[in-house]
Amino acid sequence: MTEKVKKVSLEFVENGPILVKINDRIDAALCRCGYSTNKPFCDGSHSAYGFEAEHKELVIYEEK
Ligand code: FES
Repeated sequence: MTEKVKKVSLEFVENGPILVKINDRIDAALCRCGYSTNKPFCDGSHSAYGFEAEHKELVIYEEK
């Protein structure tokens, strides 16, 4: 059964990837440091390279 999409959001993890969330569950972790060997996905390399970035959240779509 396909679940209805009620919310789509992005979480920019502090010093880490961009989490694509659907209905508040993580659907994908995208690299934003540029060091992943599995782009566009995060492979954890951001930690080894000391990537620094702020935490942010962005709601793309939310059912009213
Ligand atoms: S953000 Fe994790 S490898 Fe780039």
